[in-house]
Amino acid sequence: MPERTTLRRRVWQSVFPVPIIPRTEQQRRRYFFAHLVLHFRPATVPEKTLKLSLTWGLGGMAAVLVLLQIGTGLLLKFVYEPTATAAYESIRALMTEVPFGLLVRNLHHWCANLLVLVIFLHMMRVFFTGAFHPPRQFNWIIGLLLFGLVLVANLTGYLLPWDQLSFWAITVSTGMLEYIPGIGGELQETIRGGTEIGPATLRIFFAVHTAVVPLALGLLMAFHFWRTRKAGGLVVPRAPKDDPDPDPVRVPAIPNLLVREATVAVVLVAVVMMLSVFFNAPLAEPANPGLSPNPTKAPWYFSGLQEMLLHLHPTFAVFIIPALVAAALVCIPYGNYNQNIDGVWFVSQYGRHTALKTAAAAIVLTPVLIAMDEWMIKPGRWFIDLPPQIGRGLLPTTLLLAVAVGVYRLVKGRTSAFRSEAVQAVFVFFTVTFVVLTITGLWFRGKGMLLVWPW
Ligand code: HEM
Repeated sequence: MPERTTLRRRVWQSVFPVPIIPRTEQQRRRYFFAHLVLHFRPATVPEKTLKLSLTWGLGGMAAVLVLLQIGTGLLLKFVYEPTATAAYESIRALMTEVPFGLLVRNLHHWCANLLVLVIFLHMMRVFFTGAFHPPRQFNWIIGLLLFGLVLVANLTGYLLPWDQLSFWAITVSTGMLEYIPGIGGELQETIRGGTEIGPATLRIFFAVHTAVVPLALGLLMAFHFWRTRKAGGLVVPRAPKDDPDPDPVRVPAIPNLLVREATVAVVLVAVVMMLSVFFNAPLAEPANPGLSPNPTKAPWYFSGLQEMLLHLHPTFAVFIIPALVAAALVCIPYGNYNQNIDGVWFVSQYGRHTALKTAAAAIVLTPVLIAMDEWMIKPGRWFIDLPPQIGRGLLPTTLLLAVAVGVYRLVKGRTSAFRSEAVQAVFVFFTVTFVVLTITGLWFRGKGMLLVWPW
């Protein structure tokens, strides 16, 4: 007869499964640790996925940075005061009077900036190793949402010191919203809590930064990790055609995966610590709504958008083109690719060559076009006699779409076998273009947002 157990016993056993608990203290510790880890990690992983050059540990780094953000953010909350009259002074006191306050603030600042960089690189590695194909396509979408959330976290945090830098950077960034047709003005007013940046903006940004974003990030990250496990773990590089045993060899996650993840985390923490010890997070003069600095720049991750705004019609620069890019990113994993490319960097030798060529083309073309618009055609005079919506909006956007189609056709040629390489080339072209725009906005724009040499 099967043994009958009481509900209390069953619940107790589900928490502490007594029959398997080892006897000695050392066994018990090892048992507890291994089981704790196995709640988050699979018991075995394909050996090929342990190679650092497959992922560069970037997803894990992003997770560590988010945890550090939450930890240091909690500490900052003990001192920071979210009101327009006290915010700046509380940050100054944190830096000069609170033990380790400066270090905690610096850690929060550097982790936030590194996080944007790391998730961008993580996204690149996912794309270039083809890890967005089924069954991982929805995880790509979750990743895009995570990217958006990290940008919101950075932007809302940027305002909190309430200094000249933050006040005007947020003025410029939220100012871009008014160019969204129809709802732009209302959206801007809702986000600012009024027509101008003021105490209400600080209250809203603080609530979003410290409650909404961490909660949403936590939930989405859990979903992201769960989807990764449901897809059978990381993408596995394909076996060579003549491999007699194509099934990947699996090894125990403890210690193989764990040791690698811990190493990446320790190195990352060391780097962030060094940055925080040697470079302080900036704090300018207190916010002064009557005195805008020259130039007034958006935070660095939006300087590509700000640069586009200098050349194109605002509605196209901050709404239509970003919307087209977002739609393309969402659609990428649902394309019909007819090759098994998963887990191989840049698809193939041909893919690597075409990616390099398109990157080089974007590196040369983008600065040339920027300089032409600045000096030869004069800002605002593209297609001189046409109304700006057409001359600086519709025509350049159509030109961009034509470039996308041109690059695609050029790489794909007449065969149907190279769709992945062709999509990759278009992706490379626009990613590199955006990086060049960001660098230009960040370092090559001076007073009056004119082009200057940074040295
Ligand atoms: C806070 C942001 C993010 C965190 C913490 C995060 C974390 C992770 C981790 C730990 C992994 C598994 C290991 C690795 O690849 O290193 C992973 C895999 C993955 N991530 Fe992310 N990620 C983030 C953002 C993104 C973004 C922006 C994208 C793309 C748009 C993305 C798409 C994916 C995909 C498709 C996988 C599966 C990769 C594979 O199976 O090889 N993630 N992510």
